[in-house]
Amino acid sequence: MTERIENIRREFTEELSRVSSDSELEQVRIKYLARNGLIGALFDDLRSLPAAEKPAVGKMLNDLKRQAQQAFDDKRSTLEQSRGSREPAPDLTLPGRPRPTGTKHPLTQTMDEIKRIFAGMGFSVAIGPEIETDYNNFEALNFPKDHPARDMQDTFFISKNVLLRTHTSPVQIRTMQRQKPPVREIMPGRVYRNEAVSARSLVSFHQIEGLYVDRGVTFSDLKGTLVAFARQFYSIDVKYKFRPTFFPFTEPSADMYISCFLCAGGGCRMCKFAGWLEILGSGMVHPHVLQNVGYDTEKYTGFAFGMGIERIASLRYGIDDLRMFYDNDVRFLRQF
Ligand code: DAH
Repeated sequence: MTERIENIRREFTEELSRVSSDSELEQVRIKYLARNGLIGALFDDLRSLPAAEKPAVGKMLNDLKRQAQQAFDDKRSTLEQSRGSREPAPDLTLPGRPRPTGTKHPLTQTMDEIKRIFAGMGFSVAIGPEIETDYNNFEALNFPKDHPARDMQDTFFISKNVLLRTHTSPVQIRTMQRQKPPVREIMPGRVYRNEAVSARSLVSFHQIEGLYVDRGVTFSDLKGTLVAFARQFYSIDVKYKFRPTFFPFTEPSADMYISCFLCAGGGCRMCKFAGWLEILGSGMVHPHVLQNVGYDTEKYTGFAFGMGIERIASLRYGIDDLRMFYDNDVRFLRQF
């Protein structure tokens, strides 16, 4: 019996030393250590020994069982460790991988900020379709048929009376047709002009229109509103001037200029050495326009304005080629 114990110990030790994988290890466990394995069988044999031998042999068997289990456990952790060295544990001190996040397009940012400022002065947002009737885009805005003012905006016609809107001003007509005064809305959107694409002009760009019609609206309201806008959008101490101009749908009409924020009026490339930047067109809504939507011109007056978003954004960010807004080059877009 003692000899068998020693034999099994030797065989077990030898087989265990050859184990190099989990499945081999499991086989050794089943062969020797499982309930009905070889070591277990020795315990069965112990019962048939004479009582005098039992204590000594029993102790040998218990030692074998304990030592074999210990050797087995050691082998298992050695195997685990060597697997660990092939697949290194994650290095928790490594910096994380940056996840690229998108940002709003600079035109959207500009548009959002303009909307936010006018919302603060009680303007709500209205939108209209990009495909318009000649009536809304021109006629109702007091551009008579064959009037040379139509040439100010080269138009993409879809049919004789349907076109791609050349400005957001037709949304004024839609807004006033829909509701009675007071009207205080801004109208952002995309517009189209049949022009050669260049650094300074695009076939499609964006505008924001504004309209305020109520009893007793005057040119001072126009100035006060637009100056308040410029002070918030550009800077509190921006200088400004209004210069008379012509639009068929406003009378009187005025272009608004602000002092160049790059050179503070001294003259630079951005303001083409004028010291001033034109930022929008505006005027008092022409009575013909109010009549065309059925408003009583004895009761109501209003002002309107319109600005090009690409222009405003290019001035603000010092971008000298408007096509960059549409190239979708991430090297450009990442800068905003
Ligand atoms: N619609 C004009 C344009 O595209 C801009 C404009 C000027 C709009 C004066 C207005 C305004 O509402 O009052 O050039």
